[in-house]
Parts: sequence; structure tokens; C-alpha cells
Amino acid sequence: MAFAMVGFIILVTSCLMTNILAAVSSIAILGSETTSSSSSSCVGDPGMKRDGLRVAFEAWNFCNEVGTEAPSMGSPRAADCFDLSSSSTNKLDGGGGYHLNHKVTEADNRLGVGNSFPGLSRKGLHDPDLYAAEKELYLGTLCQVIQNLTNPWQFWMIMLKNGNYDTTSGLCPQNGKKVPPFPPGRFPCFGDGCMNQPILAHHPTSITLSGTESTNSAISDSVPVMRGGFNGSYDDSNATSISYFEVTWEKSVGVGSWEFNHKLKTSNKYPWLMLYLRADATKGFSGGYHYDTRGMLHTLPESPNFKVRLSLDVKKGGGSKSQFYLIDMGSCWKNNGDPCDGDVLTDITRYSEMIINPEIPAWCAPSALENCPPYHISPNNTKIYRNNTGSFPYGAYHYYCAPGNAQHLEKPYSTCDPYSNPQAQELVQLLPHPIWGEYGYPTKQGEGWVGDARTWELDVGGLSSRLYFYQDPGSKAAKRIWTSLDVGTEIFVSNKDEEAEWSVSDFDVIIT
Ligand SMILES: *[C@@H]1O[C@H](CO)[C@@H](O)[C@H](O)[C@H]1NC(C)=O
Ligand SMILES: *[C@@H]1O[C@H](CO)[C@@H](O)[C@H](O)[C@H]1NC(C)=O
Ligand SMILES: *[C@@H]1O[C@H](CO)[C@@H](O)[C@H](O)[C@H]1NC(C)=O
Ligand SMILES: *[C@@H]1O[C@H](CO)[C@@H](O)[C@H](O)[C@H]1NC(C)=O
Ligand SMILES: *[C@@H]1O[C@H](CO)[C@@H](O)[C@H](O)[C@H]1NC(C)=O
Repeated sequence: MAFAMVGFIILVTSCLMTNILAAVSSIAILGSETTSSSSSSCVGDPGMKRDGLRVAFEAWNFCNEVGTEAPSMGSPRAADCFDLSSSSTNKLDGGGGYHLNHKVTEADNRLGVGNSFPGLSRKGLHDPDLYAAEKELYLGTLCQVIQNLTNPWQFWMIMLKNGNYDTTSGLCPQNGKKVPPFPPGRFPCFGDGCMNQPILAHHPTSITLSGTESTNSAISDSVPVMRGGFNGSYDDSNATSISYFEVTWEKSVGVGSWEFNHKLKTSNKYPWLMLYLRADATKGFSGGYHYDTRGMLHTLPESPNFKVRLSLDVKKGGGSKSQFYLIDMGSCWKNNGDPCDGDVLTDITRYSEMIINPEIPAWCAPSALENCPPYHISPNNTKIYRNNTGSFPYGAYHYYCAPGNAQHLEKPYSTCDPYSNPQAQELVQLLPHPIWGEYGYPTKQGEGWVGDARTWELDVGGLSSRLYFYQDPGSKAAKRIWTSLDVGTEIFVSNKDEEAEWSVSDFDVIIT
């Protein structure tokens, strides 16, 4: 997620789980009985098995803000959250005796600047950026689950981002610093309005008895199936090339995992788009967004002791520029090792991601050391410098770039894009390679790609504990606590419309 993530002040919480039965009301709430790993899971819905779904949507412009809302769409934050109940009275209705109690109305989802809601600040009422942040908290209050004395949690987050940047707008800061407008050329933008927010349609989750249209093999005709989705476009319908995004979800009652199906298509006006499914922290002051967010990680995983489990089926890759992230992790700490505190001039968003599109080459090479981290640490804790051409695993690194505000970089280096995050960022982008095999990651190009659907159990904690991240010389090592773990693709500018399609299920983050 090269350009699209955030950091938080870390509020460390422990995975307290007590076997206390919640008070049961007259309606049976279903779906929490199938968890297998709940005692060590960091997410509210381990393995996506809970029938009562919690999912939200957010759209970002190039600097992770809103800018201007799309006409009559409201603020680009929305949610679909419900509990499933059985109503023994009506077995013959469409839902086979089940009913979905939705927590969020369409009126809630369409809330936009100028419309008040409980908890909205006066400052937020007319500021599209602040409004979106506060709307997310409000949707969080509607969706929040407090269960078995775990920390409260809210939703999976679908994140959509447009890579257009109108440099004449002066909208995006440079490494966190406000800078004047500059001439176009470096970033895609067709002109006025290129940083717009999309049209968004919501298909609220509903339940039916027929499963015949499904591509999900766990779905059969006899079991009620729940389905819903979000879709939309950045283009108006007159355009000749039309961008498209879609996320649909479906699940059989009481069986297996939710399956999230994604589609993303670029257009000539919107050639750079990102779409991810994220497990974000449920609270925390955010360095990246400058505000508190809501999510699924009720417990924040810390390197090295956690794993991520998920099933991924990539159906269409999205072309040669699609940086598909099998897992992308994001956090925030300062160059002196301190946790972030919201000061965009010294907070640095840190990302690492494994790119599984086999068409993405290693830019790191003996002849391009500036694209490599200064060293690699092997599983047996041997440090291998990048100038050690006999041993350094060049093919394991697509690209490393250093924070733009680092003071003591080892030459040669390249620094990360300074505009696409609200503050400086650092990226460690990996490629499938035998050296990652120890952590359960892909070891050769093509693994996990189109036609190779798999369930992964990735030692994300172990791997991330050994990655190089910049810190000032002599500073104490930052705690590597991760506030976002996600899957999806970032399709970069290419000379034609590109399309990606994939599904994700069984997502879990497990303390080991
Ligand atoms: C909550 O506690 C009950 C009773 O111990 C248990 O059966 C259930 O699996 C727990 N649910 C979660 C999500 O931990
Ligand atoms: C969303 O999907 C529906 C079909 O389910 C389609 O009719 C509609 O045009 C799509 N919306 C957008 C904005 O593309
Ligand atoms: C689309 O085309 C129609 C007919 O030419 C025009 O009336 C309408 O304003 C156009 N819409 C946009 C958003 O440009
Ligand atoms: C540690 O790993 C490196 C690189 O994989 C290897 O060359 C070296 O022999 C290993 N050392 C030990 C002590 O196992
Ligand atoms: C390789 O890089 C390390 C770390 O920067 C440095 O100490 C060493 O002198 C370099 N070795 C060569 C042969 O350039």
C-alpha cells in the first residue's frame, strides 16, 4: 500500500478473554459459536465466521483525505452492519426463518457535510475532511460489538483510493509540510476535478434461500445465504472509459467464512486506483489520518509474535502494473523510535508489503543499491549488507525507499513519494523469494497468483521483526506494533484500462 496507509499512536491492549456468557435477549443472536482461535485472535471476527457481519467503506483522495464530496453521495464513509436472528414465526419467508437486523440506515450512509449527527463537532460540520473522520466514529458507534469482555470492535474496512493528484491545487503536503502548488506532470490528473470522490451504490445485505448464482463452493441451495455489496465509479456515465469498483460479500448461515469478492477497473481519467480490505485498529490517535479511526483489530499485534491467516483467490491480476499485496502492513513511529503522536512533521508511516504479481520486477539490484534496504537479516539473524553481492537476496526486494525527513541515510538511497501520505513514509516492498519460505510466504513468482488460490498462514510477525526500517543512529529500537493489516491491489498508471478481480475469506490475525 505504497501510498495509502496510516499510523496511530499505539494503545497496547491485551487479549483478555473471559468465558462469560453475554446476557441473552429473547432473540437468539447467531454466529459467534464457530470460532476456533478466538482465545488468541486480535480481530473481532476471527476467520470471518460470524454471521452478523460488520463491514464499512471509505474512499480517499491522494493525500488520504476527502477534499470535496461527490454531489448527493454524502461523505465517503458507509457501513453495512447487522445481527442475524431467527424468527420462529415465519419459516416460509425469503430468509428461511431468519431476519437481518440492520444497524446502519441508508440515511446514515448518505450523511454529508451540513448534516448533523450525534457526536459531530461544530468544526466538522462544514469541513469534508473532518466530517468524514467523525462520520467513521459515528458509524463505529452503530456497528460496535462488545462481546465476552474483549475490547470493543467495529468493522472490516474496504478502502478505495484515487491516485490522481492535481499539483496546481496545493492540496497535499510534502512529507507533512504544507507546500505551494507546483506545475503538473509528475502525477496523473486530467484537470479540474481529477481528485473527486466516487459515485457509491450500496446493496444492503439481504438473506435468501437460493444459492444458485453463487461462485462460493461453500454455498448450497438448501441453506439461507446472506449477500450484500458496495460498488461505484469515479467517472460519470458519459465517459468512454469508465472506472469501476465493487466489493460484494456472501455467506451461508452458520457455515464457513464470509467471502469478499473484489473488482477494480481503471479508466483513462483514473489510471491509478487502489482497493483493499483492511483490518484496522479499533481506536488510537492516528498519525496518518490525524484522527482516531475504527476497525477490527481489538488487540494490536506486535512483532515477532503473530501470524496472519487468510484465503486468497486472484481471478484477474490487473495487468503488469498491478501491485497486488498478499499482505500489507502499516504502522507509525518516529525516526528516534518513539511512537507517533500526530505531529505530521516527525511521524513516519511505515509500510511493508509482499507483491505477488509475477510481472512486478525487483528494482533492487547490485547495480541499483539505492532501491535496496541497507541490509537484509536472515532467519538465523545474520546481517547481510546490500554491497555483499554474493549473498544479498536482491530478488527478494521490489523496492525500498527511505523516509523523506531522515537525517542520516546511508548512500546511495531513494526517498519515498512525499505527497501521497499526510506525513513522511517508508516502504519495504518484497517479492516472492526462497528466503521468505521460513515465514510461510510465497517463495517463487506466481505462487498465490491467478489460478493458484490458497489459504496462507503467514508469519507476518517473524518476518516484520527482521525487516530493515530506518531509525536515527543510536536511537532505541521502535516497538513494531501494527495498526493495519490488509490485502488488495494498487493498479498504477498504464497505457490501457486494467481490471483486477479477487476474493478474500478466512481472515484472522493470531497471537503466537
Ligand atoms: C464467547 O463466550 C462463549 C462462552 O464461553 C463462547 O462459546 C464463544 O465462543 C465466545 N465467543 C467469542 C467470539 O469469543
Ligand atoms: C452497481 O451494480 C449494479 C448491479 O448490481 C449496477 O446496476 C450499477 O450500475 C452499479 N453501480 C455503478 C455506480 O456502477
Ligand atoms: C452526459 O451527457 C448528457 C447528454 O449529452 C448531458 O446532458 C449530461 O450533462 C452529461 N453528463 C455529464 C455529467 O457530463
Ligand atoms: C545463516 O543464514 C545464512 C544465510 O541464509 C547462511 O549463509 C549461514 O550459513 C547461516 N548461519 C548459520 C550459523 O546457520
Ligand atoms: C559494505 O557496506 C558496509 C555497510 O555500509 C560497509 O561497512 C562496508 O565497508 C562495505 N563494504 C564494501 C566492500 O564496500
